[in-house]
Amino acid sequence: MIKILDKKHILLGVTGSIAAYKAADLASKLTQAGALVDVILTTSALQFVTPLTFQSVTGRRAYTDADLWGGEGHVQHIGLGKSADLLVIAPATANTLARLARGLADNLLCVTALAAACPLLVAPAMDGGMYLHPATQANLEILRQRNVTIIGPAEGHLASGLAGIGRMVEPQELLNQVRLIFSRNGPLRGHRLVITAAGTQEPIDPVRAITNRSSGKQGFALAQAALDLGAEVTLIAGPTSLGTPGGASRVDVRTAEDMLEAVLAAIPQATALLMAAAVADFRPIHPAGQKIKKEGGIPQIHLEQTPDILHLVAQMKAETGWPRYMVGFAAESQQLLENARQKLQAKRLDLIIANDISASDAGFEVDTNRVTLLYADGRAEALGLMSKEQVAEQILDRLVSQITTGSG
Ligand code: C5P
Repeated sequence: MIKILDKKHILLGVTGSIAAYKAADLASKLTQAGALVDVILTTSALQFVTPLTFQSVTGRRAYTDADLWGGEGHVQHIGLGKSADLLVIAPATANTLARLARGLADNLLCVTALAAACPLLVAPAMDGGMYLHPATQANLEILRQRNVTIIGPAEGHLASGLAGIGRMVEPQELLNQVRLIFSRNGPLRGHRLVITAAGTQEPIDPVRAITNRSSGKQGFALAQAALDLGAEVTLIAGPTSLGTPGGASRVDVRTAEDMLEAVLAAIPQATALLMAAAVADFRPIHPAGQKIKKEGGIPQIHLEQTPDILHLVAQMKAETGWPRYMVGFAAESQQLLENARQKLQAKRLDLIIANDISASDAGFEVDTNRVTLLYADGRAEALGLMSKEQVAEQILDRLVSQITTGSG
């Protein structure tokens, strides 16, 4: 994963909601992602959690209102706000949202928020009635107008025992949103990338299918790397249990035919298509409508070719100019480079990633890959054994160079 939060100075404001305990998890996740996290707790937050909770996971100081007039003086805490790259207030109560909207400065967190010049992200958490109250809605509207990023609240179980809207969104989702804030001015800002991932399933009958061992890990890593560079990402995925990288628009598909349809719908105006999916090459011509029974003897399953998605997209590109760049993958168990080069030309690609699947540490299911990049101009670049995240970063790095120089 691109270390987009590395050494970023994030101020985390924690206010008095039961969701404060989840803020400790967020502080831990941000710290693990490389951020320097300073925490400010309001007096009511102290009813739920302690500064020590946060100091233990961040390795840095956690501040309270006692510091506002304490030994270090509040000028220093204005400095804290000024040096921050991002202020996150999670959970943000109705009270704190009201203070922020009106510019009150009667506690350390609000003084800091007024002094901070960095972007502000708030994650409201409160009872459903309080959230829906016109006063809270008006305060949120003021904050929205001020370009504050408001994430949530979510629906679900509330501390009041009722179900409704008001829950703070989960720390993982907040981490995703923080990553998006830091990536939005990246080199792929304004570019949409369509990325396919995982294998397809071609039905034999309602319970059985022809599929392959693709996990989707490489395609999902490409989606995350593209998001980290500021791209808008459409992720078209075959069946996989992997979670959607934060900020990607995901389209789930099952068969090669579904994937073709989703890709054709997504590519107009797309800068690039990265076909990392392991699309089935063959499918049963006539899938059975009912489960095939053992008693009927060994079935004869007749196969036909699936549509070649890249081939059809290449035709579309010739007619419409979209997508501007096409990247394919060649998973081969023999004559890797010859086969990959042949595909690069046949499918009119700008770049193909040749992947030797005969090694046990590369290719399907495992977390590492050893690939060679073959370019349309004949250049070849072998990358050593590395994680699929690193492979994704390298591929995106090369694509960014092509896009920004307009070559390819
Ligand atoms: O020719 P082959 O299927 O091995 O080429 C692999 C590349 O073509 C991959 O990028 C894969 O996603 C894509 N592909 C496709 N349509 C298919 C089969 C593969 O676009 N039916």
